[in-house]
Amino acid sequence: MREPAADELLRDDRYDDEEGVDYDVVPERPSGPEGAGTLAGYTLKPPPDQDIILVGATGDLARRKLIPAIYDLFIDGLLPNEGAIIGYAREETDDETFKLRAANAIKAHARRPLYDEAWIELRDRLVYVPRSAGGLGFAGKRTTKDRRLIYLSTPPTAVPGLVDEIAEANLVEGTRLVIEKPFGFDLGSSQDLDRRLRGHFDESQIFRIDHYLGKETVQNIMVLRFGNHIWERVWNRDAIDHVQITVAESIGTGGRAAFYDGVGAMRDIIQNHALQVLSMVAMEPPINFTANAIRDETAKALQAMKLVQPKDVVRGQYTSGTVEGRPALGYREETGVPPDSETETYVALRAEIDNWRWAGVPFYLRTGKRLPRRDTEVLISFKEAPVHLWESVGLDMDEHRPNHLAIRIQPDEGITFTFMAKVPGPEIGLRAVNMHFSYEDSFMTEPAEAYERLLFDAMDGDAMLFLRDDAVRRSWEVLQPVLDDMPPLQFYPAGSWGPRGADALIGERRWHMHEKHIPH
Ligand code: BG6
Repeated sequence: MREPAADELLRDDRYDDEEGVDYDVVPERPSGPEGAGTLAGYTLKPPPDQDIILVGATGDLARRKLIPAIYDLFIDGLLPNEGAIIGYAREETDDETFKLRAANAIKAHARRPLYDEAWIELRDRLVYVPRSAGGLGFAGKRTTKDRRLIYLSTPPTAVPGLVDEIAEANLVEGTRLVIEKPFGFDLGSSQDLDRRLRGHFDESQIFRIDHYLGKETVQNIMVLRFGNHIWERVWNRDAIDHVQITVAESIGTGGRAAFYDGVGAMRDIIQNHALQVLSMVAMEPPINFTANAIRDETAKALQAMKLVQPKDVVRGQYTSGTVEGRPALGYREETGVPPDSETETYVALRAEIDNWRWAGVPFYLRTGKRLPRRDTEVLISFKEAPVHLWESVGLDMDEHRPNHLAIRIQPDEGITFTFMAKVPGPEIGLRAVNMHFSYEDSFMTEPAEAYERLLFDAMDGDAMLFLRDDAVRRSWEVLQPVLDDMPPLQFYPAGSWGPRGADALIGERRWHMHEKHIPH
């Protein structure tokens, strides 16, 4: 796979909804942005006044996530009371078009409707600066505050140049810099990026974002483990047979082919989201609940990982098929994808953590696009009972399944513990049954959007849910043997659970969702 040029990648920025906007959706909003705001029911002070510079402001992420999150924070009273929101990108467009697109993005993707009154206030804070107007230095001149958040929502190849540009424009002081994953393209380029960042910024100014850490359900892994003594007793090699982490998506590249084809599933999901989830499952208890104590432990878990070897990795790419009842093109047939692309849209791998808690317990990770449905889950599969007592009464042991704990990250956020129960009747019969906790039922709410929490934290200077340089370095390091020697692609039809090689990789243990749902 060739590394795409930054110019080429940035051209992926496109809008499909600039036909105008109907502003009078709802006449007024429920609350104002003055005073304290609320996030997930908590009363919080808005972050200090600052400007936000969104670099890559015409891109997919800004449209689907960042601008809607800014709006929802505004509605909750959690945007700084004052400060401009400056969109910056290569595209030659103007303030009015940018505002129009922002309104459409909010309508399509924010949690709340586009309230008339709120929008009128927020739109006054929006400004657009095309790159040709004089670069980031010029964008900096449009700021109104000494403090600012610069959000680099750009492909990895564009980041080093932008970091230099920020420094040349004398914008380092007063800046908190948010960088989107993937951080670099491999170990070498991520180290270069780190050197470059450290040449200009203090680590406390750098916020490496992995939006999975902003998900309530990912944070809840820590609460489940360290808030409940019962699990901690069995959270180790004595009781656990293996762990599965699945990040399944039914979507394809969703109009981001030019970006995606230069990245692929290994760099897009495994190197960051999946390894972050793994580090939370595997970490030791932190000495307290502060940013550095937690990041010390997650980094140590990654440190203990063995380097992943190509023989333990399956790479796949989807061909045409049917997803959720609708026909889907093959990856190579999609607009913007070269017809001979070798980019993987699926990865399954086996990882090992070489420490006292986890030695000998495989961690199976898998992710894919165009799988049957969106489904992100951690499965803790416990060991089988040491003696199969039930065989003595003639029970079919295939019916007996080891206990497992399924932590559902999304959708249907919750946790399910599966255990065996006696089937009612005069004879001994066993069946797997579930104990279930659902976020929605227990808290009467759906978890908030990860980007709201993370944007708020970055503006407020709280780095707990952001990645530290050592963890990023290590997550590239453990994958580097595979990046150096990528296994050949295996193909899978869109709408299936991935290539057959993935089943061979996990063997008799079997992937969790295959059993219950659409088989090959
Ligand atoms: C992003 C990836 O980081 O995460 C996308 O770049 C992917 O390819 C997305 O679709 C998935 O996020 P979520 O929150 O929908 O699981």
